[in-house]
Amino acid sequence: MEILRELGLRKNWVYETIITTSRDGRVNAAPMGIWTDDFEIISLDVYKTTVTCGNILQKGEFVINFLTDIEMFYKSIFNKSKLEFEKAGNVDSFYLKSADAFLEMRVVGIKDLGDRTRITSKIINSEIRKKPRLVNRAEYLALESLIAYSKLLSVSKRDGEFLEEKIKENYRVICKSAPESEFQKLVRKLLEFR
Ligand SMILES: Cc1cc2nc3c(=O)[nH]c(=O)nc-3n(C[C@H](O)[C@H](O)[C@H](O)COP(=O)(O)O)c2cc1C
Repeated sequence: MEILRELGLRKNWVYETIITTSRDGRVNAAPMGIWTDDFEIISLDVYKTTVTCGNILQKGEFVINFLTDIEMFYKSIFNKSKLEFEKAGNVDSFYLKSADAFLEMRVVGIKDLGDRTRITSKIINSEIRKKPRLVNRAEYLALESLIAYSKLLSVSKRDGEFLEEKIKENYRVICKSAPESEFQKLVRKLLEFR
């Protein structure tokens, strides 16, 4: 779908968003990672214990909100009552008033992954109010890896081992959240240089 390209999503990269759902008149928001492998279907893996998972399974509809402000991610976990919502037009849910863009979604598939449920969904309606700066962990992790690497020569053996483990873990997450990316290549080089 053109909207996902317009938003700047890349195939199989995981973007951190805020999912809004509603049930019995109560609105809920929570940060969740989403991805697409075909620019049509959007997937998310949601822990079964979350309110979000229960609401999506019950209603079959939800909203994906794109925001850059990390404070909003914090609020959507710890300070939900401070969030402001607006009624979505085409699904029985709400979107965040301060969202840069949002997608109104309908569930098309569910897969049991043990402690999580994989939800696949299609776009029913969308609105881009301002092109969002998409939040993906790989860029931050690549920067963190560079910082860790640059400290390796200056620290004790024990601290060096800790930093190397950190870079390896960063690389693992980057491979998952931004496959085929320049960030993946960069951190792979750091691991090869050691
Ligand atoms: C940036 C970010 C991304 C997250 N991604 C996911 C995710 O993909 N799946 C998930 O189940 N939880 C994820 N979480 C954790 C949930 O947001 C957290 O468990 C939340 O409290 C669930 O709220 P709820 O019970 O109101 O749905 C993420 C948290 C953050 C901060």
